[in-house]
Amino acid sequence: MHKKDWRLALSLGVLAALPAAAPAAEPNLMGRNIGVTCFGCHGTDGRSQGVAPSLHGKKAQEIIDKMHTFRAGKDPEATIMDRIARGYTDEQIRAVADYFANLP
Ligand code: HEC
Repeated sequence: MHKKDWRLALSLGVLAALPAAAPAAEPNLMGRNIGVTCFGCHGTDGRSQGVAPSLHGKKAQEIIDKMHTFRAGKDPEATIMDRIARGYTDEQIRAVADYFANLP
């Protein structure tokens, strides 16, 4: 399946799984869909198993700032995040940062 098709299928699946009386807060589907792609290195829910730093428990603004620094190529220590961050817009970075910052 094409990557975009997969993402669409995932968001449709998540929508279908929502209960009829959805909670008042809008689910952050964009953040979730992007966030799960970070789990491979940062651990499920951002709880790292040692490959990359944990994202769980970080404030959204900290994640946003780091992503912008990576994307601008301004973190000399970056081994991979400089390349990964380039794939995301400001809106997507905010969404994924909010997703990790609000995980229980
Ligand atoms: C291929 C593995 C990999 C993936 C996938 C990945 N990361 Fe990373 N991440 C790293 C590594 C390794 C570092 C440490 C910096 C470096 O070496 O680039 C890091 C560092 C970070 C940091 C800085 C954390 C800190 O405490 O300094 C943030 C924020 C971050 N990643 C966010 C993300 C987000 C959001 C995603 C998903 C869109 C993601 N990463 C996907 C490997 C990954």
